[in-house]
Order: sequence, then C-alpha cells, then structure tokens
Amino acid sequence: PSLSSTSAHNSHQARVGLMILITEDVWGAQFEGLRALDEVCYEPDLWNQREAMKEKLRNATVLVVRNRTKVDAELIAASPNLKLICRAGVGLDNIDLSAADAREIAVSAALGVNAISVAEHTLGLALALARNIITHDLQTESGKWIRTPGMELRGKTWGMLGFGATAQCTATLLQGFGVNKIAYDPYAKFSDSQLQSFGVELVSLDSVIEKSDIISVHLPHTPATKNLLNAAEFSRMKKGVLIVSVGRGEVIDETDLIAALKSGHLGGAALDVRASEPPTIGELELFENVILTPHIAGITHESQSAILELLAADIMSSYTGAELRGAVGKIRSIS
Ligand code: 3PG
Repeated sequence: PSLSSTSAHNSHQARVGLMILITEDVWGAQFEGLRALDEVCYEPDLWNQREAMKEKLRNATVLVVRNRTKVDAELIAASPNLKLICRAGVGLDNIDLSAADAREIAVSAALGVNAISVAEHTLGLALALARNIITHDLQTESGKWIRTPGMELRGKTWGMLGFGATAQCTATLLQGFGVNKIAYDPYAKFSDSQLQSFGVELVSLDSVIEKSDIISVHLPHTPATKNLLNAAEFSRMKKGVLIVSVGRGEVIDETDLIAALKSGHLGGAALDVRASEPPTIGELELFENVILTPHIAGITHESQSAILELLAADIMSSYTGAELRGAVGKIRSIS
C-alpha cells in the first residue's frame, strides 16, 4: 500500500517524495497499516544509533518518534528534507521545539489522547498501594494466608502535582471516592465553575506536600521540575503518605525516595516512570510497599488507536497541506 495513491498527487510532498521514518517501536495491530506503507521506513532500534539515524534522516520528510529519540537541534540540522515530526504520544521533553520552529518543521503530538488511560492506571496504582494488593497476591500465590489491613481512600486528601489532562481525568474518576482533592499547577488557568466540576481546589506546592495522604505526580520533566520531590520535600510530607508517579521520572530524586522509604516516613510509592528508562535493578525492587510498572500508564489498545488516528491524519495533512490536528509548534500546516 502507498500513500501516493491518494488524490494529493500534486502537492509539494508528493513531488519531493514522502519518506516516513519511524525510529522507535510502534507495535500492535493499530500500527500495522502504517508500518506496511511503502513510504514508511520502520527502524524501531534507530533511536539508539545516532549516526545511522542521521543518515536515514537525510531523506526523511516525516519523523515519527516516541519518548526515546532525542530530537535535538543537531538531529534537526541533519534532516534537510524534514517537514513534520510526529510524537506518537504526549510528552515533548525529547523534542527541541524551538529548533523545529526555527527550521519551520511542524511538530504534532497526541496531547490529551492517552489521559483516560493514565488516569485509570493512576487509580489502579493508588488502590493497589492502599490495599497492599500486590504483596497480598504474591503471598497468597505462595501459599501464605496473611490478612493485614489496608487504608480506605474515603476521607483522605489526594494531592496532585500538575493539573493537566491526566490529573484532570484522575480528578474526574475520583468523584465517588469521597476524597478531598487538591492540586498544584503554576500554569493552570481555570474558572471557579471548571474547578467545581472537577471538585478540585488549586493550592500551593507546599499545601500539596504537607496536607496530602496520597500524592499523584503528573508533571513533565523541565529544568523547574527536575528532582522537585527530594529529601527536603519528603520530610515535610505526612507520615505514611502514598506517592504515585505517572508524569516523568526525573521529577523524583530516586535516591532520596529510597531513603524516605527506608526511614518508614513514606507509606509507599508506585512508579510508572523512572529517571532512567529502562532502569537498572536497584534497591527500589526490594520494598514490599513499592510498585513498579514499565511506563505503561498511557498505553492501552484504546489510547494507541486514538494516537494512531491522529498521527495518520496529520501525516496525510502534511501531504495535502491541511491544518495539522496535533500541531504544538508555530507551524500549523505544511504548504
Ligand atoms: C507519553 O508521553 O505519551 C507517555 O509518557 C508515553 O510515552 P511513550 O509513547 O513514549 O511511551
């Protein structure tokens, strides 16, 4: 199958020849059709082979990445024909947006598309921590019948760090749990009625740190958020607090987290995202009250279908000159 069989034959892209380079694994039935296109060069390990990737990028007009390919100024400079970078996901910390803007390369991302998936995973992790579900499962499966009490969420304070799409969905799902919801987000702009509909009060970072029984971390990785949760912050948290991390791993200082878990000050932590991915096995794996998942909060059949739909639409638009649905940089369409 080929995209050039579409009616967009006369477009600029058709004339220069479309080459779609995918440098990371995009798996599953959803992506089969895309991978099979004649225009597509699917090299799932290329993100890790810088020079080979630069070589391939000399001809690429569209680059499709997830979170591993470092799309920095140097890579962009090595891509003379690039018109569109598609982020098959949400986080943009691996893409230099200003370098793309400067070269008039459009960037499209699936903002908000996996928010429900992330929120459901967040809730799952919090419930698993609060009721020691993983430990109870492992013990029961090994023949041990150990009945220890967990903690109800009802009546507790759930603090969110970051109040973007995934936190908003988490707040919505929490309606019915009877928790008191607070959130810190220096960029959030909501009317009172919007906040009322989420049932969330926007508060300071200090309030989330000091008042929460459960803290879910939804923040992206930026210079301002790196190691935001460190020894000083952990020590100001309530004893027994549960931490669920689903934004970016760099927000939590893992060495300080381990110390705070060892001291017994933290009640538990569930990390879907890590400072380094995949992480090396270390001390975190040894705690009964730590749950680790491999950055899968946003990955469901439903979210991948929705991401692919947006990505395919924007690749087609790069061909036809139509407005890009997922445009996040200054270029909104490709003429
Ligand atoms: C995202 O940013 O969309 C999620 O963290 C998932 O990232 P990934 O698609 O690179 O796995």
